[in-house]
Amino acid sequence: MLDQLFEPMVLGGQTLPNRFVLPPLTRSRAQEDGVPTPLMAEYYRQRAGAGLVISEGTVVSPQGSAYAQVPGLYTEAQVEAWRPVVAAARSKGAAVYAQLWHVGRQAHSCVQPDGCPPLGPSPIAIAGWEYRSPDGPVPFEVPRELSHEGIAEVVTQFATAARNAAAAGFDGVELHAANGYLFDQFFNSSSNQRSDQYGGSVENRLRFLFEVIEAVSKVLPVNRIGVRISPSSSWMDVSDPDKRSLYSALVRGVNERGLAYLHMVEPGIAGAVDAQTDPNAIDSAELSELFDGPVIVTGGHTPQSAAAVVGSGSADLVGFGRLFIANPDLPRRVRHGAELTGLREEGLYAGGPAGYTDYPELQSSN
Ligand SMILES: Cc1cc2nc3c(=O)[nH]c(=O)nc-3n(C[C@H](O)[C@H](O)[C@H](O)COP(=O)(O)O)c2cc1C
Repeated sequence: MLDQLFEPMVLGGQTLPNRFVLPPLTRSRAQEDGVPTPLMAEYYRQRAGAGLVISEGTVVSPQGSAYAQVPGLYTEAQVEAWRPVVAAARSKGAAVYAQLWHVGRQAHSCVQPDGCPPLGPSPIAIAGWEYRSPDGPVPFEVPRELSHEGIAEVVTQFATAARNAAAAGFDGVELHAANGYLFDQFFNSSSNQRSDQYGGSVENRLRFLFEVIEAVSKVLPVNRIGVRISPSSSWMDVSDPDKRSLYSALVRGVNERGLAYLHMVEPGIAGAVDAQTDPNAIDSAELSELFDGPVIVTGGHTPQSAAAVVGSGSADLVGFGRLFIANPDLPRRVRHGAELTGLREEGLYAGGPAGYTDYPELQSSN
C-alpha cells in the first residue's frame, strides 16, 4: 500500500527517486551572519534519502530576517558555505531547492540592520501574537510601509538570492509565500490596505508575487521555481473574507507560468504546530485541481495518509516535517516497516547537535 511513495517521478526535468519531501524547517544552526555551518551539512546528509530536499527558510536580505542564526543567500561567504551543505543534501539522488524567505512585518527593530521597525505592505501590526525577542515575548511593531522603490528592491533581492542559490549548487528555489510572511502579507486584506497597484483587488494583491516570479525566471528556468502557500491558515494575523477566491486566483496564475511545483500547507497547521482546522478550510485537493504541474502537500501526514493522497492523484509528493526531524532516514524506515522515533522539543530551534543530528538512523542490518 505504501508503494506509491517509492515511485520515481520527474520534477523540473529531474528524476526524483521517491515521493518523500524534506519540507523547509528552520533549525537556526547557521552563524550569526547567516553563513551555513558544517553541522548543517551533516544534518542534510542524514536526510538526503528524500526525493526532494527543500532547505530551511533562507533569507534574501538582513531586513528579511526575524531571528538569529537563520541562513542567508545574499553574501559571497554564505554562497561558499552553502556548497558543501547542498552537496550533502544531494548525496543520495534528491533534487535540492532553496526556500527563499522574507519575513516582512514578522521581524522586529531589534534585529533590523538600521534598528527601525520591519517592512510590510501596510502600516498594520500583527495582532494576537508576540515576537520572540532574546529578552522574551514583546508585541509586534507597526511596520514601515514599503514604497515602490522598496518593493522593487525586494524583487531584486529575490532574483539575486536565486542566482546565488544556483551558484551554491541548488537545483531550484521555492518562494516562501506561506505562513503570514511577506508574500502572504501582500495577499491578505487584513495586512494589505494599500490603495496603489499592489493593494485592493485580488489581482493587485498578487502582483508582488508575480513580479518576483518574473524576476527570478530571468536567472533560473521557470520550471525550477516552486511556490509554497498556506491557503487555510490565518496564523500571524493574515485573514481575508474570501480566501477561496484569493488562493484560487493565485494557483491559476502560478499554473499559467509553468512553475516547477505548487507546495501547499494542509489545513490544521499553524506555522510549525497543529491547530484546530478552520471550518472554512480549503481542501488542498480542491486547489490542486487548478494546477497541472507537480503538487506537494505538507502537514500532519503519516506515511499511510501520504500514500493515500498520492494514490488518489490529488498530490504527487508529500512533505514530512516533524517526522523527518526525528527520523533522518524516514524513507528507509518506511520501506522496512521500522518503528518511527518521536520528536523531542530539545534543540528544535538553535543549539548544537542535540535534537538536531543525534536522532538515530537504522542500523544497516535492519
Ligand atoms: C522546527 C520547524 C521549523 C519550521 N520552519 C519552516 C520554514 O523555515 N519554512 C516553512 O515554510 N515552514 C517551516 N515549518 C513548517 C513545516 O515545513 C511544515 O509545514 C509543518 O511542520 C507541518 O508539517 P508536519 O506536520 O509534517 O510537521 C517549520 C516547522 C517546524 C516544526
